[in-house]
Amino acid sequence: MKTLAVAQARMGSTRFPGKVLKPLSGIPILAWVVRALRMAPGIDQIVIATSTLEADDAIVRWCKENHVACFRGSESDVLDRFYRCAVEYDADVVLRLTCDCPFLDPSVIGQVIQLRAMTRADYCTNQPTWPDGLDVECFTFNALSMAWKEAVRETDRDCVTQWIFRNADRFQAEHLICPFPGAHKERWVLDTEKDYELCKEIAARLERSSPPSCTDIMRILDKEPKLREINHGAIRNERFYEGLAGEPLAPRSFTRSNALLHHAKKVTPYGSQTFSKSYLHFPAGASPLFVTHGDGARIFDVDGNDYVDLVSALLPVVLGYRDPDVDEAVRRQLSRGMSFSLATELEIELAEKLCELIPCAESVRFGKSGTDVTTAAVRLARAYTGRVHVLVGGYHGWADWSVATMGDKSIGIPESVKGLSHKLDFIDGDIPENPKAIAAIIVEPMDDRERLQKLREFCSQHGIILIFDEIKTGFRYAMGGAQELFGITPDLACFGKAMGNGMPISAVVGRKEIMNQDIFYSGTFFGDTLSLAAALATIKKMEKEMVVAHLWTIGREIQEGILDTYDRISHPVDVEGHVIKFQGLPPLLQISFHDHVNATKEQIKSIFLQEMAQQGVLVLSEHGVSFAHKEPEVQRIVKAYDHTMGVIHDCLNHQGEITKRLKGMIQAKPVRAA
Ligand SMILES: Cc1ncc(COP(=O)(O)O)c(C=O)c1O
Repeated sequence: MKTLAVAQARMGSTRFPGKVLKPLSGIPILAWVVRALRMAPGIDQIVIATSTLEADDAIVRWCKENHVACFRGSESDVLDRFYRCAVEYDADVVLRLTCDCPFLDPSVIGQVIQLRAMTRADYCTNQPTWPDGLDVECFTFNALSMAWKEAVRETDRDCVTQWIFRNADRFQAEHLICPFPGAHKERWVLDTEKDYELCKEIAARLERSSPPSCTDIMRILDKEPKLREINHGAIRNERFYEGLAGEPLAPRSFTRSNALLHHAKKVTPYGSQTFSKSYLHFPAGASPLFVTHGDGARIFDVDGNDYVDLVSALLPVVLGYRDPDVDEAVRRQLSRGMSFSLATELEIELAEKLCELIPCAESVRFGKSGTDVTTAAVRLARAYTGRVHVLVGGYHGWADWSVATMGDKSIGIPESVKGLSHKLDFIDGDIPENPKAIAAIIVEPMDDRERLQKLREFCSQHGIILIFDEIKTGFRYAMGGAQELFGITPDLACFGKAMGNGMPISAVVGRKEIMNQDIFYSGTFFGDTLSLAAALATIKKMEKEMVVAHLWTIGREIQEGILDTYDRISHPVDVEGHVIKFQGLPPLLQISFHDHVNATKEQIKSIFLQEMAQQGVLVLSEHGVSFAHKEPEVQRIVKAYDHTMGVIHDCLNHQGEITKRLKGMIQAKPVRAA
């Protein structure tokens, strides 16, 4: 079994040309890399892989002078360069490194090699939890050759292991997790002049005789934290994300998604545990149905396709998938235990935080889902008022009292329960005959401040408990939810979704005298510590990084991009009675679909989802923007809209066209439910 370390190097870096031969403490960067590799356990041979461009002759000369093997291959098709190099040197296992990482740690390299060997994984890496600049990837020749044969996208050929990373369904992948808190924030890579400045400062403080370890460098930076400011603010893998946004799109197929749906339907009714994640809502055959993993703003399906994700797991993912800070908090808590026999201090800490942030919050109770806490809120209101009727504004979860107003969805709910829940439609029309029988009005405070104010006044006047269901608006419109944004304080409010960046946690909060009602509300998992730790880490990061401001900015940029598209494409997409309408506020823009003479709203939604998916954007009924959506993602989303609106425009202009173009249909009427 031969393990070949292949370090890629080129002189023609766009941001910092010639960097690999620049000196650090008098030693060229290439020499730093080779020295670390020579010390790393488990490597049989080292090769520098450069391009055939004349500019890279300098690298070849350096290798000759320093007795290091050198391989030359394609400049742009780096995957091909690696493959041919691995063939030439007869590798069984390939270690990939890049020569912009002068401070590679031999021990970390050895651990990645060992972890891959012990797990027999196809692919192993230490990213993204270790410092940027300690990157090591290790994979089998077999995985490399599959990538070489099948990868067609520009970014796959340029980034060597992207195709393997995307196709997680076909490869076993392992990650060496960094034990040092916050290590992922360190940037020791050499990509810009500023990085070089930092590297020089670090190198000047290092012992010269041997390659540094990760902890050597951390000690230097902890002693002089100001050094970190030199290259502060750079975006990790920025070039890669820019490349993704700009690359031409390859056609996508959903063969494996379709096969899994067939399989899943045999054991579970919708083939998915969540209604809105099922084939009822995504058009089978025209859209992905099963996902393997996520990363930042992207998710990956079982067919190896990737998408900029605007669904964000039906909104919980507010920071991005695998957010390093939240994941780290969860791992640290995991090392202490998940669920316990008694309460923990984490419950108090999070409850205090919510009371500090949310205007109506004087007391807090946690749940696992939105349904838990909206149901608790309604019960509290009934207990407090001694009344039984509830006015329901929208979708508030799957409990009987909520679904009771959902027409044909309300099967299985007794008439006696239905008699107590009523649709809230009076505020623009008639006031209910007997307001004194109403315990609560529950609404989603999405927009329309004036209407919410009217509701507030009506409830106060009649002793009705006003509940804001902030499951979607919470931690998106403002840290304190829509109530903070609009300056209207409900009696009770429900939060969930974005609160834990994907971990299941929710909260009902509100006035103490209502919250203190002695209702029975209890759950085995209501205080599970992983979710509490995730929520605390999510909220802390949202405050520190001003995430809500980011959501507004990114949401607005997408909205403006769509409006430009609408300006370019005229009737019938762009009509006053648009067939696709956008409502709500930028951090959570809502999309609705409407009938047209040449297509039903279901057909329009299906073609919309189909074309957006083909353009690499996963979207459903709203824009769940996250902190991980940055400029490259906005570009991709706006481009996708541009294309999709054009297709819809064509479909609506020609009778029968939409049926020809549709490859799959959603099965459910567009309703809003989880
Ligand atoms: C506004 C609103 N309330 C409540 C819920 C129910 O939340 P969960 O699905 O976590 O029970 C949802 C779910 O989508 C929702 O959008």
